[in-house]
Amino acid sequence: MAEIVIVRDADEAGEVAADAIERLISRKPDAVLGLATGSTPLTTWAALAKRRLDLSRVRGFALDEYVGLPEGHPESYRAVIDREVVEPLGLTPELIHVPGDSGPIETAGADYENAIHAAGGIDLQVLGLGRTGHIGFNEPGSSFASLTRIKTLTEQTRRDNARFFSSLDDVPTHCITQGLGTILRAHHLVLLAFGEAKAETVAGAVEGPLTSRLPGSVIQLHPRVTVIVDEAAGSRLDYADYYRFAWEHRLDWEK
Ligand code: F6R
Repeated sequence: MAEIVIVRDADEAGEVAADAIERLISRKPDAVLGLATGSTPLTTWAALAKRRLDLSRVRGFALDEYVGLPEGHPESYRAVIDREVVEPLGLTPELIHVPGDSGPIETAGADYENAIHAAGGIDLQVLGLGRTGHIGFNEPGSSFASLTRIKTLTEQTRRDNARFFSSLDDVPTHCITQGLGTILRAHHLVLLAFGEAKAETVAGAVEGPLTSRLPGSVIQLHPRVTVIVDEAAGSRLDYADYYRFAWEHRLDWEK
């Protein structure tokens, strides 16, 4: 079963996620992190930055990238990762990869899969959850076996992300994203979600049927998942009391 952690707010969630990352890096200083963008992981990066760990050997693979933005666009995920993750955490830029960042776009998916494989796989993948139920940019209908590839964004996701652009028309229609199958290969998934607007989607991903209508439900197939939600995002979970009990009574070796 996934480990479900219900915390007070996004700041506390960031500390719990940062604990997991710090534990990994203390045992493996050149660990491979899977990096999500968007608003959700910001408190995780902030909590990690405060700890002033030496992260210079950490390697990273972004989950996804827009297709069609001019190079250097401030909302490209390459730029966002540089600004919000690489700089504050003191990561080494050459060790951080974004899908589509080298070679022709036609082979970018396969190239990215090969690069992840060559790095020994992703040790810990940070994930947010979109309102369409996507993880990465795997929109409804995505195959559970999918690998890194070009996808078309849904209207809902483009509207949700329009807050980062001047207008909806400026939001790209396409992206390149790790697939659900790529995400399943990571050793540990850490999925975060905050706010009432995500409560239904969180409940579907954690407790609902496994369905490509809600791509995040694929986490139920993974043997090691930590879901960290605030009270609002966890408010539709049927087994919330049980999850709280299990977290409070976790055994020493689970910490
Ligand atoms: C971002 C990503 C997306 C977001 C999701 C939630 O790299 O892959 O799945 O995690 O859209 O976005 P926020 O966190 O902005 O609510």
